[in-house]
This record gives sequence, structure tokens and C-alpha cells, in this order.
Amino acid sequence: MTGFHWQNNQLFAEDIALTEIASRFGTPCFVYSRAAIMANYRAYADALASVPHMICYAVKANSNLGVLNVLAKLGAGFDIVSGGELVRVLEAGGNPNKVIFSGVGKTIQEMEAALDANIHCFNVESLAELDRLSAVADARGQVARISLRVNPDIDAGTHPYISTGLKENKFGIPREEAVAIYQHAQSLPGLEIIGVDCHIGSQLLSTEPFMDTLERMLSLIDDLAAKGINISHLDLGGGLGIQYLNEVAPTPAELLQRIIARCTNRNLTLAFEPGRSIIANAGVLLMKVEYLKETTGKNFAIVDAAMNDIIRPALYQSIMDIVPVRTLSGSSTKRTTAQWDLVGPICETGDFLGKNRTLSLAQGDLLAMMSAGAYCFTMSSNYNTRNRAAEVIVDGNIPHVVRRRENYSDQLALESVIEEG
Ligand code: LLP
Repeated sequence: MTGFHWQNNQLFAEDIALTEIASRFGTPCFVYSRAAIMANYRAYADALASVPHMICYAVKANSNLGVLNVLAKLGAGFDIVSGGELVRVLEAGGNPNKVIFSGVGKTIQEMEAALDANIHCFNVESLAELDRLSAVADARGQVARISLRVNPDIDAGTHPYISTGLKENKFGIPREEAVAIYQHAQSLPGLEIIGVDCHIGSQLLSTEPFMDTLERMLSLIDDLAAKGINISHLDLGGGLGIQYLNEVAPTPAELLQRIIARCTNRNLTLAFEPGRSIIANAGVLLMKVEYLKETTGKNFAIVDAAMNDIIRPALYQSIMDIVPVRTLSGSSTKRTTAQWDLVGPICETGDFLGKNRTLSLAQGDLLAMMSAGAYCFTMSSNYNTRNRAAEVIVDGNIPHVVRRRENYSDQLALESVIEEG
């Protein structure tokens, strides 16, 4: 579910026209549907209802407190990759006992904060991290519950920058070293082994790489059992893809039914770390056409959003749908129908949101970049001293501003000039 639909020739977020949101809160503006976030989470919860499970939303996809709070109220757990994300989860009312801490570079301070909060589990990614975590926990008289993130060496068939399960990627422990490293973990005082973890990449459009990974994880669990190490928690990461344009992604139910069937009689709690599939389709970025620039070689529509708001096209060559928020037939404004490159005001050739899009446009038109709920605001920046966009969650006919638009004072507040002595 996306939460966005057409009504009277206008695109609505739940019960509010996006034109109204733009006039009240300005552009660029991220708009999320609360009902869509809830439905997307429930698709996982319903599919997993028959087995012990944890659904740990990957905070990095969208870490707005309002979004986290909607999920916390549904009982979600959270997958974090930094101390900052832990602060957000706690602030949003998330249950620390349902938090999993992933990531290759946890600092001592981050480990201490997570131990203070009594999180459920650390996903440990190297031998060095294992030793550090044991020492940190032991020095505090605590025991850290751990899974080892194992790199299954499986091609997720996705963009190389978001493929994480291949040998050459920095993530996880090689499968062939895993048993020895688990044995080492068992010998350390500050650790309690509970699980096995993996995550092979993001925006996966087939269930096969997940199933191949599952086989390797189950065989590892068997190898560990033979050494007397019992695993009760299998974390298969996130990564399920979504439809941006014409892609066909498996539903959570399609994926989870296959996984559950393969894990029967295993006595495992199945953990998942979905990010994109919970939040991407539940959000759009609203933007306005500032100028139309028709040149002999190319037509540019210069919009008020830019690569600092959404870097995905520039970074991953992602193609995301961009649509006018109302159908304009019958309007008296003269529009030009052409193939447009939608570009922002930033001084970089890579500052584009879409290329060669056939659209009928006039200056001042409002457009929506669809499926912009995941990895858009969280990857945004202040490049070119642009204020980051506002974020609004729509709940029925009520728009809640869950992050106000930045202003220049916000941006300058942390800086100063050198005081002359
Ligand atoms: N767990 C771990 C350990 C991860 O590294 C990630 C994503 C997830 C879970 C969530 O994966 P998801 O369900 O969202 O696919 N910025 C990129 C995506 C980077 C994903 C990084 N890791 C993009 O815009 O496509």
C-alpha cells in the first residue's frame, strides 16, 4: 500500500490533496502516509504471526521521530547502525529490548550506550569487534547478546553499491571462518551467543537470493550445533525491493511464506530488518517547477528540489517516478509537452532527479517524486547551503509536521569565525 491515490484529477495523500500540503507547508516537502506505513508493517507482522519472530525496522531508511513512533506503537523492533539511531529510537518510544545493533564500525561509546539501554542483540561483523565488545561488556559486569553477521557470498543481483553479501564487500565474516570465530566468541567472558545474522543487499526483486542465503545459514547453524553452540535466533536482514516504476517485487508474504516453510521444526526466532519495503512507497517528495529551459539539445525543467534532497538518481542511477500532482487538461495555463530532464539548482551536472521524462509542464507546476519515503531524507544534506526539506505525516485529513523546514539560522548555529586575539 502507498497511501497515495487520485481523486478529482488530483493526487491525494490519504484525505488531503498534495496541492493543499504544498500551499500550507511549502516545497520541497516530504509527505508520508501513516496508514501506508502501518499497512506495510502489518504485511510483515501478519505473514510472521504463526512463528516466533522479530521485525526490526531498519532506521537508516527513514529515521524521522514521527515515523519511528508510528512503528513503535505497532510493537516494531528496530535495526540501528549508530549511537545516533539508538537515541532516536529511544526518543520515539521504541522498546530497547527489541533493538538490534548492526554495522561494521561500532565505537566503544556506542557499545556502552547500547549496553546501558539493554538492547536485544549486537550483530558483530569482525573478530576485532567481538574482542572489543566482550571487553566493554565485561568491564561493566554485563553480558552482550550477539549474533555474528556472516557473509554468505551470494550475489543479490542489485546495484553494486547496495550489494553487501559478496566476498569482496566489507560486511560480515566469511562463511568458512564463521565456526572458528563462533568458538572464539564462546570463550570470551562478556558475550552470550544467541544468533546468526546476514544481510545480502537492498532492493532485491527475487526471493531466490534470500533462499540461497537461508540454506547457507541453516547449514552453519547445523555446523555450530555439532560443536555444541546452539542458535535460537536467525536474522535474515532486510533487502526486499519495491516497485519504483515497472519493477515487480515479491510481497513480504511471498518471501516470508517460503522462509517459514523452510524453517519448520527448527525452533528459531526469525528476525528481519526491513527498511525500504516499510517506508519507501509510503512517501513522496513534493516539488515545484521554478523554470523551464528549452535549449536546442535538451529541455530542462528546473525544480526546487535537488540532489541534496534526493541523491539516489545521482548515486545509484535510480529511476524514480515523477508525476504532476494534478491532471491539467482543461487548464488555461499554456503547457509544453516534451521530454524533460528534471534538474535541481545545485552546481553539479549530477544534480538531476529524472531524465528524459515526457511531461506536460508549465512554470509553477507542482510535481511529486514517488516512492521517496526511504533513503531520501536520511541521505539529504545541506550542500549549497540549502535548507533541508520539511517532513509531514498525513493521518486521514490531518497533516502533522514531523520535521519543520530548516532555516539558515539552524544551519549556521554550529559554526563560528575565528576570534582575533
Ligand atoms: N539491515 C542492514 C544490515 C542493512 O545494511 C540494511 C540496508 C537493511 C537492513 C535494510 O535494507 P532494506 O530493507 O531497506 O533494503 N541507500 C540505498 C540503500 C542502502 C541500504 C543499506 N543497508 C538506496 O537508496 O537504495
